[in-house]
Amino acid sequence: MLIGVPTEIKTDERRVSLTPAGAAACKTHGHRVIVQAGAGVGSGFSDRQYRDSGATVVRSAAEVWGRADMVLKVKEPQPSEFRFLRPGQILFTYLHLAPDKRLTNELLKRRVSAVGYETIQLEDGSLPLLAPMSEVAGRLAIQAGSWCLQALSGGRGVLLSGAPGVRPGKVVVVGGGIAGFNACRVASGIGADVTIMDVNPSRLRYLSDLLAGHATTIMSNRATLEEEVRQADLVIGTVLVAGARTPRLLSASLVARMKPGAAIVDLSIDQGGISETSRPTTHTRPTFVRSGVVHYCVTNMPAMVPHTSTYALTNATLSYALEIADRGLLEAGRANRAIGWGLNTYDGHVVHPAVAEAMRMKAHSPWE
Ligand SMILES: NC(=O)c1ccc[n+]([C@@H]2O[C@H](COP(=O)([O-])OP(=O)(O)OC[C@H]3O[C@@H](n4cnc5c(N)ncnc54)[C@H](O)[C@@H]3O)[C@@H](O)[C@H]2O)c1
Repeated sequence: MLIGVPTEIKTDERRVSLTPAGAAACKTHGHRVIVQAGAGVGSGFSDRQYRDSGATVVRSAAEVWGRADMVLKVKEPQPSEFRFLRPGQILFTYLHLAPDKRLTNELLKRRVSAVGYETIQLEDGSLPLLAPMSEVAGRLAIQAGSWCLQALSGGRGVLLSGAPGVRPGKVVVVGGGIAGFNACRVASGIGADVTIMDVNPSRLRYLSDLLAGHATTIMSNRATLEEEVRQADLVIGTVLVAGARTPRLLSASLVARMKPGAAIVDLSIDQGGISETSRPTTHTRPTFVRSGVVHYCVTNMPAMVPHTSTYALTNATLSYALEIADRGLLEAGRANRAIGWGLNTYDGHVVHPAVAEAMRMKAHSPWE
């Protein structure tokens, strides 16, 4: 199969869908790879590294899209890329089609075989191609929060690690899933006083075993949340209710009663955010201050560290891309149900039931 890697063009996006090592792996499997010139630069990979790995570097996006049997991307196609989409082409990338009628219609009209990273699903319901970005964002949250707490950012001037003879900062992580656990690990690693909250007792039990001595686990309810948030220097929002808007757990009046100069890093903002006071921000203007509290609500935090994020993402995506390339899409989806769940559109029809429901269309399975 000919695998194509175009340069990502979404604002602030510097990741790339395949590393040079990934290109070498494709070659070992007997596939050819074409990479748009400069596609890896934002993640620290030169054209030369791709060439040395056996890929062909081509000048334009049009050439990648025009020639490749399977286009590997990071973000969903942008409107200026729609003209490149063509019948039968396999597109493997983050798609997030449910809220995006325009893109869904383009993929249907142009009869693209579109596989979404976010809907690749294992037997236990977990989403292996979403997890790496939650891991990266969770870890980044403490970096971002530390910066928010600095005096020049409007914060209360607290160093999370404390200093000899001085108390550390108090970090409250709301939501003990993948991102929450990773935020917790970094915060406890630098010596902060960490509390992690969740509503799922078995998850709390698991976290308590894992983080014994490094963090306090607390069952989240209105009373405990209020108590913890009012004492916090830094609140990290990592709640997810699958398929739904994040519940607004922090009211504006609770935020107003937080310590002056405290900070909220609301990762859940991509699903609406945990605080009534949160609104999406960008890497260019990541923070705003409301009720004296510094808010950081960037919706695509992993783009801040494209080198690490590219490795983390491609470590997870490569084996699926290779399986699709080796077996062909339909056979791969039949043999490996995780890939089957990933198929969102095929030959002008919606395949994934949740996307079909969001579009008020009927789902069609290519395997029936
Ligand atoms: N902003 C970014 O750049 C970025 C990057 C990656 C992930 N995210 C977002 O971070 C969020 C968390 O992702 P994840 O992969 O860790 O999800 P996850 O499903 O692993 O964890 C979510 C946790 O929230 C808990 N929860 C649900 N309701 C709760 C409540 N009322 N109170 C406390 N906890 C509650 C669940 O029990 C679960 O443990 C998602 O919204 C995800 O989209 C954002």
